[in-house]
Amino acid sequence: MNIYLDNAASTKIDERVLDAMLPFMKEYYGNPSSIHKEGKYLKVLVEEARETIASFLGTKPKEIFFTSGGTEANNFAIKGLAFSNADKNKNHLITSTIEHPAVLDTILYLKKFGYSISLVAPGSRGFVSPAEIEKLITPRTLLVSVMHANNELGSVNDVKAISNICKKNKVVFHSDTVQSVGKMKVSPKESGMDFMTMSAHKIYGPKGVGILFKDENIRIDKYFHGGGQERDMRGGTENVPGIAGLKKAVEILKESMDADIVHYNHLKEILKTKLSSVFGENVEFNSGVENVLPNILNVSFNPYKMKIPEALLPVLLDLKGISVSGGSACSSGSLKPSKVLIEIGKDEKTALSSIRISLGRFNKEEDVDALTKAMKEILNV
Ligand SMILES: Cc1ncc(COP(=O)(O)O)c(C=O)c1O
Repeated sequence: MNIYLDNAASTKIDERVLDAMLPFMKEYYGNPSSIHKEGKYLKVLVEEARETIASFLGTKPKEIFFTSGGTEANNFAIKGLAFSNADKNKNHLITSTIEHPAVLDTILYLKKFGYSISLVAPGSRGFVSPAEIEKLITPRTLLVSVMHANNELGSVNDVKAISNICKKNKVVFHSDTVQSVGKMKVSPKESGMDFMTMSAHKIYGPKGVGILFKDENIRIDKYFHGGGQERDMRGGTENVPGIAGLKKAVEILKESMDADIVHYNHLKEILKTKLSSVFGENVEFNSGVENVLPNILNVSFNPYKMKIPEALLPVLLDLKGISVSGGSACSSGSLKPSKVLIEIGKDEKTALSSIRISLGRFNKEEDVDALTKAMKEILNV
């Protein structure tokens, strides 16, 4: 049996989520926009799901838009705002160098449409400094986008401080919360986010569905022109089974998030203790101790003290039946050093001798034991 320690890339679907989805693939196959009873039944399900998610996040249901996942939700917010912006003087966007490509590449693309971009580098633990953001804001700044938690390090940014700076300067604030939802309390209203995004497959739900939260006072352009779905902001027949799955995944989180967090922290502590006892000073935890997600541990093995097959650690672990991420979180096929690790000051050799372990609801103590044992064998310690 494979041991899966790559839950920040995607999670195993919870059986209860799968059960909640199946009827919408078998019996209830209508179209939510149809006027007959099959259609109406599905419309009710979609609106109930919106309410469930809104109540979980503490927002109004009309501030929730269903999307095909985190990538689309980020594109929707950023491009929607940029394209609706009639004030040609507001042509400046700020983001960090360690955003997920769904944010970074979207913002860089907007150069083509006349926007100027400022990028902020993180500190050595992967935090984006609110003061650095403030220095870059000008009267022309339209948007600041800073992720809540980084997908490779788990570092959690002080989004409240950043949003306060944005409010003071009348700048819109977007935060990619794809990794933080379910791993800590995420409240867009309390944190002062104008936009936030989530993805079902990171919280034991299905792939291909997520949401954008948009504060009701922010105006953006519609994303897909089409049949007027999602209050005419995102055309296209709704992914009803996916939405049913997301609803169930959120209902489960409401019940089990606290226990999940205790479980992640417990496994992470065991993992750190075991790795330290085997590798001593030759292992470095790149994820900090404070303001960090409970489920992510990014680890570098010292390539100057041990013989490390560079970039191959995830491949060698895979051969031993253990799945983790290496080079880059979302495109782990790549053998390039992780951009995030380089941005926080690691040299190339060290970055290529690093792995990201991300724990999930279904992991057990044996899994972290197996990882430590496998690393010991691979590095001949
Ligand atoms: C921080 C972050 N944002 C966005 C995404 C993309 O989400 P999705 O796979 O739902 O498009 C990911 C996926 O890894 C992520 O980690």
